[in-house]
Amino acid sequence: MPTPDFVLALRDRLGHDLLWLPGVTAVVRDDEGRVLLGRRSDNGRWGLVSGILEPGEQPAAGMLREIEEETGVIARIEAMAGVWAQPEVTYPNGDRAQYLDLCFLARHVSGRARVNDDESTEVGWFALDALPDDLAENSRRKLASALTFDGRTRWLDDGYAAVPHTGPAALAVLEPGGVVLRRAVAADVGPIVRLIADDQLGATREDPGDLAAYLRAFAAIDADPAQLLAVLDDDGTVVGTMQLTVIPGLSRSGATRCQVEAVRVAASHRGQRLGEQMVRWAVDESVRRGCALVQLTTDKSRADAHRFYERLGFTASHEGFKMALDVGTHRPDEEHR
Ligand SMILES: CC(C)(COP(=O)(O)OP(=O)(O)OC[C@H]1O[C@@H](n2cnc3c(N)ncnc32)[C@H](O)[C@@H]1OP(=O)(O)O)[C@@H](O)C(=O)NCCC(=O)NCCS
Repeated sequence: MPTPDFVLALRDRLGHDLLWLPGVTAVVRDDEGRVLLGRRSDNGRWGLVSGILEPGEQPAAGMLREIEEETGVIARIEAMAGVWAQPEVTYPNGDRAQYLDLCFLARHVSGRARVNDDESTEVGWFALDALPDDLAENSRRKLASALTFDGRTRWLDDGYAAVPHTGPAALAVLEPGGVVLRRAVAADVGPIVRLIADDQLGATREDPGDLAAYLRAFAAIDADPAQLLAVLDDDGTVVGTMQLTVIPGLSRSGATRCQVEAVRVAASHRGQRLGEQMVRWAVDESVRRGCALVQLTTDKSRADAHRFYERLGFTASHEGFKMALDVGTHRPDEEHR
C-alpha cells in the first residue's frame, strides 16, 4: 500500500514534523516453518510484512489487509507477539515518524507469495536457517522475539526499546576488531547450530537442516534467568558461542556454581584469543552472579581444548561421567565436549 491518504493529508499540515503512527508487522509462517519476507522498494532491504493502520481500522484486520496487499498471501492471525514504540525514523524526504508497532504471529492459509504492489520488489518464503543477509535489523529483532513467543505478548521485557539500533546489548567488546559478545536471539540459533556441527564430534550428532528442536531448546534457555546463551558477533556474523548455567547447591557451604557449556569459536577465527576473552568474561560473570566455582567438561579427545582451559586457570580435577538416555530427539548426552 502506498502512503495512506490520511498520512498525506496530515503531512500537508505538519510538513516534516514528527508523526506518531499505528504500525503493524507480521511474522507469517507456512507449514514448513518458513517465514514470509519482502524486499522493500524504498531501501532495497528484506523485511517482515508491515504497514500502517487506517483511522479506526481493527489492528488484526489491517494486518491481514497489508499481508494480502503486499504479498498476495491470505493468512490468519494466531497471536499478538509484541507491542513496542519503535525508534524514530527520518525518511529520505525529511519526514519524521515514529511507530507504535503491533507485531502479529500469522499463518499462511492460501495464495502463492508474489509481488502484489509497488512496496516490494521481491517476495518469498525463507527457512529460518537461510534468512537473507541483508534482512533489516528491525525485522530480525521482531522475528527473534516472535519465534520465542510463549503465549505471553512481549512489550519491554526483551529490551527491544532499550537498545533499538544496535541489536541485543553488548556484554563485552573484544579485541581484535571489535568482535562483540552478546546474548543470543532466536535468529542466531541456525548459525550457532552450524558452528557446533562444524567439528569432528559435532558433525555426528547435530542436524542444522532441522531447527525445530533447537528453537524449542532456545525458548527454554531464553526464558530461564539462570541461563545465558551468548554469541560472538563479528559485524553481524556469529563466530563463537557458549552457554552459562548458574546452579545453586548445598555442598561447599551452599555454594552456587556456574557451568560453562558448548564453547565454540569458528574455525576461521581461532587462535586470535577470542576464546580466551570469552571464557575470561564467563569467569567474571560467574563472580558477578555470586558463584563460588566455575566448571566445565570437555571431551577427553580434545587435547588442544585441555591446553586452552588449563592456560586459563582451570584444573582437570575430576572425572566427568555421562549416561546417554533414550528420549527421542532431545539427546541430553550431547552437551559440551
Ligand atoms: C577451544 C576454542 C574455543 C578456543 O578458541 P580460540 O579463540 O581459538 O582460542 P584462543 O585464541 O583464545 O586460544 C588459543 C588456544 O586454543 C586452543 N586451540 C587452538 N585451535 C584449536 C582447535 N582447532 N581446537 C581446539 N582448541 C584449539 C589451543 O589451546 C590454543 O592454544 P595454543 O596457542 O597454546 O595452541 C576453539 O578453538 C574451538 O572452538 N575449538 C573447537 C571446539 C572445542 O574444542 N571447544 C572446546 C571444548 S567444548
